[in-house]
Amino acid sequence: MLVGRRGPGYNRGIMNVSALQQARYAYQPKLPPTIGANAATIGVTLGAATESVADQDGVRERFPQTYGAPIVRLGGGDPPEAKPLTVGVILSGGQAPGGHNVVSGLFDAVKAIHRDGRLIGFRGGPGGLVTGDSFAIEADLIDRYRNTGGFDMIGSGRTKIETREQFVQARRTALDHGLSAIVVIGGDDSNTNAALLAEFFSAQGDDIKVIGVPKTIDGDLKNEYIEASFGFDTATKTFSELIGNIARDANSAKKYWHFIRLMGRSASHIALECALQTQPTLCIISEEVRRRGQTLQQLVEEISAVVAARAAAGENFGVVLIPEGLIEFIPEVGKLIEELNVLLADNARHFATLHTFEDQSEWVNRSLSRDSSYVFSSLPNAIQRQLLMDRDPHGNVQVSRIETEALLVEMVHDRLSLNASEGTFSGTFNAQTHFFGYEGRCAFPSNFDADYCYSLGYGAALLINNGLTGYLSNVRNLDKPVDRWVAGGVPLTMLMNMEVRHGKPKPVIRKALVELDGAPFKSFAAARDRWAETTSFLVPGAIQYYGPDEVCNLPTITLSLERG
Ligand code: FBP
Repeated sequence: MLVGRRGPGYNRGIMNVSALQQARYAYQPKLPPTIGANAATIGVTLGAATESVADQDGVRERFPQTYGAPIVRLGGGDPPEAKPLTVGVILSGGQAPGGHNVVSGLFDAVKAIHRDGRLIGFRGGPGGLVTGDSFAIEADLIDRYRNTGGFDMIGSGRTKIETREQFVQARRTALDHGLSAIVVIGGDDSNTNAALLAEFFSAQGDDIKVIGVPKTIDGDLKNEYIEASFGFDTATKTFSELIGNIARDANSAKKYWHFIRLMGRSASHIALECALQTQPTLCIISEEVRRRGQTLQQLVEEISAVVAARAAAGENFGVVLIPEGLIEFIPEVGKLIEELNVLLADNARHFATLHTFEDQSEWVNRSLSRDSSYVFSSLPNAIQRQLLMDRDPHGNVQVSRIETEALLVEMVHDRLSLNASEGTFSGTFNAQTHFFGYEGRCAFPSNFDADYCYSLGYGAALLINNGLTGYLSNVRNLDKPVDRWVAGGVPLTMLMNMEVRHGKPKPVIRKALVELDGAPFKSFAAARDRWAETTSFLVPGAIQYYGPDEVCNLPTITLSLERG
């Protein structure tokens, strides 16, 4: 058995234990009642067969082994055979609060199913599975990470498993380690990897199950059955604390406009939830910008109009929330980014020979379509540079490195200066910019995320014990107290559709964007004019781990509204 080659643990960076961390070790996450006892005997109840969310023929053809499996609920059915499991686990993609609790829940369930069960951690994400970089996870290690933030117990990575060679290597690793299953804790791209691995192992006739766990602070891995991705709760509460504090500062000093960009690579769920929690002056929702076909200039006009109206009322301050993914949703910039993605992918070698920014932008301008070249050259230099930076392994532009908030501040400033010169603006516009993302990804999980993640991990082991593969662990009724939660599994193929990636149609998990006819957006839309006119800030304060339910255990407003 090839484990423990470099000793336990991923890194030894954070060894000191704060008072809160010590206290959180003692927190016992709650489990849904249907999976809370006698893990070894818990069976599954099968629901109806499923179809993919779109492009059924294409997805079915790509997943002949695993397509169309039924939704399952844990509990009921025949009890599975009692045998020890050897489960491999990887954390994949960006950090999200609660990852360690998924691993703890998985560990506890594997041991509860059979005391000889084993959990193997693969270091650094999917890459660790491909290279076989692993170690056995033991109880003392788990105990040092219970209810803590971060992914540092085993580390994470963004390697995309896509070549035949990588699949063969991952299979070799699984066989060498005698794995009964692999649990992939990740977002849409990582769980697309999980679905492909499950299909590959099944096609080879291997008895290696693959179960995914829905992780991402972005909140865009969800459907009717996956009510929320884990980490969204804690991250949005952390950002909302910071926004609330800034709002109070703005209201105290009355001299700054704060432009705050919030993480969330595509969807605006984070910005929307933070808006519902803090009631800022303005919050832009990328999906609405795309729906309206708003240009960058129109967006700037809209923001400038609110600044000007408040200035006229003597209020030269405010808070503007900007979703990180906005830039790709502004139609003309989105088109530019699409063209750049193809151009840079097709000409990677040539681009690497261009060493100065001047050479790069000159070549890009020559190679783009006329419209996109115009948009590119009209952007400030800093943004042009950011748009030319490396793509991530999945081909995405790294929006976390594009300073959209600075772009908007600069353009609003120019617009208001013009107004001032024409005598239509007599206020002041002094702006501060912020970007919140990393501040929230590794926070101590809220009680909600601590319970939810532990349940997802525990449920993943039970799905494996029932012989299931190609499933995403799920927990339903999340807006209710834990004693009403119900755990189960959703076939990964159900979340998939076909999308063009690098010029070819590929099966991928479809991102759940903000629905403009959904209750969270409607609630925001009904209030936003008032927030723009009259300072209406709400200050939610820091996440509370101890105290009454209404300050410690409430789910996000998004979840409550979506669940009615
Ligand atoms: P996942 O989808 O992998 O969970 O990551 C989400 C995220 O936090 C985005 O909000 C952000 O754009 C991205 O990761 C940043 O990733 P990185 O730090 O690797 O650049």
